[in-house]
This record gives sequence, structure tokens and C-alpha cells, in this order.
Amino acid sequence: MAMIDDLRQLERDAVAAIRAARTPDELERVRVRYLGRREGLVSGMLRRLGTLDPAERPAAGAAANRAKKALAGALAERLGELTAAAGASGPGLDLTLPSRRKWRGTVHPVNQVIDDIWAIFRSLGFVRARGPEVDTEWYNFVALNTPLDHPAADEQDTLYLSPGLLLRSHTSPVQIRTMELHEPPIRIIAPGMVYRRDTYDATHTPAFAQIEGLVVDEGVTFVDFKATLAEFARRFWGPGTRVRFRPSFFPFTEPSAEVDVKRVIVREDGREEETDWIEIMGAGMVDPAVLENVGYDSERYTGWAFGMGPARVALLRHGVRDLRLFYENDMRFLGQFT
Ligand code: PHE
Repeated sequence: MAMIDDLRQLERDAVAAIRAARTPDELERVRVRYLGRREGLVSGMLRRLGTLDPAERPAAGAAANRAKKALAGALAERLGELTAAAGASGPGLDLTLPSRRKWRGTVHPVNQVIDDIWAIFRSLGFVRARGPEVDTEWYNFVALNTPLDHPAADEQDTLYLSPGLLLRSHTSPVQIRTMELHEPPIRIIAPGMVYRRDTYDATHTPAFAQIEGLVVDEGVTFVDFKATLAEFARRFWGPGTRVRFRPSFFPFTEPSAEVDVKRVIVREDGREEETDWIEIMGAGMVDPAVLENVGYDSERYTGWAFGMGPARVALLRHGVRDLRLFYENDMRFLGQFT
């Protein structure tokens, strides 16, 4: 059949032209000459199909499609050869350049501290608890033995959403929520975000993380409290760490303490040096009034609690001076804490 023979000839010519093309531009001109939609020789042939005897059409159509496919394959192959050759010798591609580094996410430095603190308390038998960031005056203040005329409950310090509803100003409401749901023994760690009307500066951010700890059981004493926190500090900062309990006041603990640590750091010349005392948490023995507020028998049960700021711990750990850096999400900064 004449048309099929013509197609074969056309295909041979086209493949030869494709192989002979020496640049991508030349190759493109060959493509247009044969496969171009309007003037292309193969396309023209396809249009002629309509003039054929109906009996011949299927075989000719199949041959034309085969030719088209063969040419497309040859074009792609030649283009690959030409661009690879350009890459090896031409100016477009420098194979000696270092490859781009793969982007890898990391755990936020404050969350790393939370994870490490949690790991230590977990090994001491604590479980994790959580509570809502939007909470009520009852959980945030009243149940914690904090009267609403206490300065902390003032709108100057606490972010209210509506009367009685607020963004929790500490993680201590999780103490109440946990004790309402469970009977002693209780040993929980509750990390989470808290909110205060603070000015945004190097040492304050209006939203920050806290970690709450609470232990309630029969026979829990101040000795358990001190020993557990000292053990935590030595596991977290190293065996040489010293811990100091300074008398303080919180409405929900009695007695209350602020806990400071003095760390041992290794200087650049290899000598060891003690740091200043740094406050790491507020803490104390749970006030019996708080235990009564959740229906516990305060004659039978005693407990202790603490609240710690992991962002401050992260500052110490990395020698960072400005808290805001942890919350600005600049990847050049955050990417360093792998
Ligand atoms: N909730 C207190 C604060 O935010 C810290 C604290 C927790 C103190 C538990 C004592 C017991 O400052």
C-alpha cells in the first residue's frame, strides 16, 4: 500500500535527521518539520487518511500512529543525549558544586527541654497530664486557694476572654482537674502553654510554656519533695549540681519555696566552674485547703507541687540571652538546635 510505504520512508528520514541533530535547537526544528501540527510531514500524512479507501484506513492509521510514537521516542532519546553532553562539557551545569543539603526539621529547643524533663520524671514514676488553655476562674484561681482579689487575678496580669473565662496564667489548674478525676496516689507532670499580660521583652513573653508537677499520697513529706527535686536537678544538670530552697509564697502551697540551682560548667580551658544561683521553679507542699477543694481528706493525704519554666531552662542550656528568640520562629536560629 502506497501510503504505508511512504510512512516508512518518512520515518527513516526523520530518525536519521533526529540522530544528526547536534543541538537542542536543531532537534526542535526537526521535530517541527515532521511532527509539527500544521506543516509537519507526518501530520500531513495523517490528514490524508480521510481520502483513503475505507478498507485501507485502519492499517494505514495504525502505521501512522506507530511512526509518530517511534519519532517521539527518538526525539526524547536524542534530547537526553544532547543535554547530558551539554552538562558534561558546557557551561550550564557545574558537577563539582556541593549538592544542596536536604532540609530536616528539628524539635524546638523549648520542647527538647520539656522532653528531657519529662523523661526524668517518667523514670521516677510520674505520668503525663494535660488541661485546657482556656479555663475558668475556679480552676485557675479559686480552687487553688487564690481569692479573686489577689493581684494575680487582676486583669492587669491575666488575659480574660469573658467574665469568669480566661487564658490560664499557669499550669496549676491541671492539679485541680487531675485531683477531681482521680483518687491518690497522684504523680503527674503537666507541660503546656500559659498566658500573661506581660510586656514582650528579653525576659518576658505573653505566651510561654510551663511544666507542672504534682504528687499526692499518704505520708508524703517535705523530705520527698526536696529529695525528688534534688534528684531531678542532678540528673538534668549533672551530679555536681547544688539545689537551694528559698522560702516564698504561693496561695496554693504551704510552705512554699523558690528552687534555685547552682550548676557546674566546664570552661573553655577545661577547668570546672560553678555558676551563680539561678531560680528554676516555684514549688511547695500542697495547701490543705486545695486538697479540701477537690474533696480529698487533708488529714489523710499530703502532697507537693512545682511549676517550672522550660524556656528559661533552654536559655541556660544554650547560653541564649533573649527569650524572644525562641518564639520568633526564625529558622536560622531554630535550625541550630539539632
Ligand atoms: N503556678 C506557680 C507560678 O506560675 C508556680 C507553682 C506551681 C508554685 C506549683 C507552687 C506550686 O508561678
